[in-house]
Amino acid sequence: MSERTLVMVKPDAVRGGHVGDVVGRFEAAGLTIRALKMIHLDRQEAEEFYRVHRGKPFFSGLTQFMSSGPIVAIVLEAPGAITQVRRLMGATDPAKAEPGTIRKDFASSIEQNAVHGSDSPESAAYEIPYFFGALEQHAYERAAR
Ligand code: CMP
Repeated sequence: MSERTLVMVKPDAVRGGHVGDVVGRFEAAGLTIRALKMIHLDRQEAEEFYRVHRGKPFFSGLTQFMSSGPIVAIVLEAPGAITQVRRLMGATDPAKAEPGTIRKDFASSIEQNAVHGSDSPESAAYEIPYFFGALEQHAYERAAR
């Protein structure tokens, strides 16, 4: 069954000029883009998005970084999209990420790690409507390649 996931291209990857590379990897892997926009979160919005991490030692640095510049929020759809996106991103810590993954190629540290992807269907159900309403998510058929 088809599944949707929320991806963010984080401020480091936006500043690095890697938006096209990151989006291109997801498209090349066969995921369908349902929604996409650039947005600059303020500190409170970043804290709400990452609310499950409130109280952890990295929460302050993470939310400071995530509000330091614009991000690109994307809804991707495919069967098993959550797992597929996490595989394409690689490990949270780029030092541990497999060669050929997005974080291995574009991330500099565990905090400035280029991309975020929903880690479960429950997370996706919170994260997708955080950025996109129903009218901003679009159904269409991808052409056969
Ligand atoms: P992300 O997938 O966006 O989800 C939560 C983020 O917290 C994670 O990517 C990392 O950027 C960050 N994070 C997780 N663990 C640590 C850590 N130990 N130190 C710093 N940042 C972390």
